[in-house]
Amino acid sequence: MVRAAGARRGHGPSLRTVTTESDLARAADVIRRGGLVGIPTETVYGLAADATDPVAVRRVFTAKGRPSGHPLIVHLAHAAELPAWALDVPDSALRLAAACWPGPLTLVLRRGPGIAPEATGGRATVGLRLPDHPIARRLIELAGVPLAAPSANRFGRVSPTCAQDVRAELGAHVDLVLDGGPCAVGVESTIVDLVGERPLLLRPGGVPVELVEEVLGGAVEVRDVGPARASGMLASHYAPGVAVELVAAGEVAGRAAALLGAGRRVAVLAPPGHPVPRGALVLEPPATVGDYARSLYRRLHEADEAGVDVLVAAAPPPEGLGLAVLDRLRRAAAPRD
Ligand code: TXA
Ligand code: MG
Repeated sequence: MVRAAGARRGHGPSLRTVTTESDLARAADVIRRGGLVGIPTETVYGLAADATDPVAVRRVFTAKGRPSGHPLIVHLAHAAELPAWALDVPDSALRLAAACWPGPLTLVLRRGPGIAPEATGGRATVGLRLPDHPIARRLIELAGVPLAAPSANRFGRVSPTCAQDVRAELGAHVDLVLDGGPCAVGVESTIVDLVGERPLLLRPGGVPVELVEEVLGGAVEVRDVGPARASGMLASHYAPGVAVELVAAGEVAGRAAALLGAGRRVAVLAPPGHPVPRGALVLEPPATVGDYARSLYRRLHEADEAGVDVLVAAAPPPEGLGLAVLDRLRRAAAPRD
């Protein structure tokens, strides 16, 4: 029996967090037959398929409604497999893997011939990571192939951080969902591109960029990538249904009061200790920045479900995990078409 790391704060107690070996064997069978499995990882839930099977990978794009040019992240069970799936692995990749894997760091490297080109949107590069979740890693071992797995949401929407959200989002399109409990990190992996001369940060995420820089011994350039390189970088990505306004923590109360005064229904997401005007829906305050990351997507769902017009959210400091939270909130707040 493989146990998830256990129940975590911010979630109801009724969630089943145990998946049996026989569930995993069934899931591995689904993968080997070209099917799709919803999998828990430490960041968010993924929609997994055999990364070596072009037909299975195409099903992922269809299920997500994702344009076929947007590359998927490929998940491995062991760091020693890295040279089997990527070419010309630089020393910097080995050092980052040693320091951060298993964990929320994706390395973009030259794609090895075993990975279906469809998984990388036809690119010559591949994003590889080793998830820090026993269920994901055991499934990859049993399936015997790397798993291409984007976040298990419809294209452009909020990523799921529990099995129920996967079922609600993609139920009809997925053969099986493995329940590994709520995700421990809650925001997606940090993506570092190591293909060019200098390392580039493509997406801030669960591994702080400060740690990446420490391991590499120098600053990492932040490239403002277009959608062709990283779909998570589309301005309106991670969009909930509700309108989001991102403000400094000290301005949450004032902004919420102004919106209430204008007749809007308002929810507030802010750390403890900030006064909130009467009439606003107060979402559970994140006690730490780790808590903010872990609970962010669930809170966005809650604001949606509550039917408010606007969610006023406090901006965390732009460092450590705060950078990833800020990035996702900015994208949630970005104007949509
Ligand atoms: O934490 C995560 O990374 C989660 C879990 C499931 O592992 N996965 C995830 O996948 O966030 P997805 O597909 O939602 O986001 C993948 C991001 C996209 O922005 C994509 O463009 C970028 O990774 N990406 C993947 N391969 C790439 C490559 N070869 N070059 C540049 N960007 C790449
Ligand atoms: Mg995604």
